[in-house]
Amino acid sequence: MYDFKPDAGADAAELYRELLGAADALTADEPDAVANMANVAALLWEFLPDLNWAGFYRVAPSKLSPAPELVLGPFVGRPACIRIPFGTGVCGAAAASGATQLVEDVHAFPGHIACDAASQSELVVPVLRNGAVIAVIDLDSPSPARFAEADAAGIEALAALLSTRI
Ligand code: SME
Repeated sequence: MYDFKPDAGADAAELYRELLGAADALTADEPDAVANMANVAALLWEFLPDLNWAGFYRVAPSKLSPAPELVLGPFVGRPACIRIPFGTGVCGAAAASGATQLVEDVHAFPGHIACDAASQSELVVPVLRNGAVIAVIDLDSPSPARFAEADAAGIEALAALLSTRI
């Protein structure tokens, strides 16, 4: 049995240190990308308060052409949009630019895709391997401005850890 729990009262930096340690322990010896993404989605849900969706979109060929798009991966939350073109919505912006998207108000973000009407703010961090985006980590919250720079830094560290593990 795995029992990874955040310490009560941990500040953001400590919370992300613990989350990273748990993610490292769970993925270090496992070559299966789906298993690793599934466990990390569960850890994000377990460690981070005030989320309504946490998970992955992977870069994969689109159905009709070899051009890549984002395809839904392991997550915790309500069923979500399956395919997102590069450049569309918050996830597509992260994939197209290779840059973290910290969105305080999703309703003010051009092209935001509302998978769950409860979402008010969102953090999307690209996962890079050899300089190319291979996936994004997507966090949604029902609270406006839920995510701060400390969250972006913590999830970017997680994305770096997962670069060769998913
Ligand atoms: N809101 C995202 C879509 C994915 S869901 O939030 C799970 C976006 O605009 O890209």
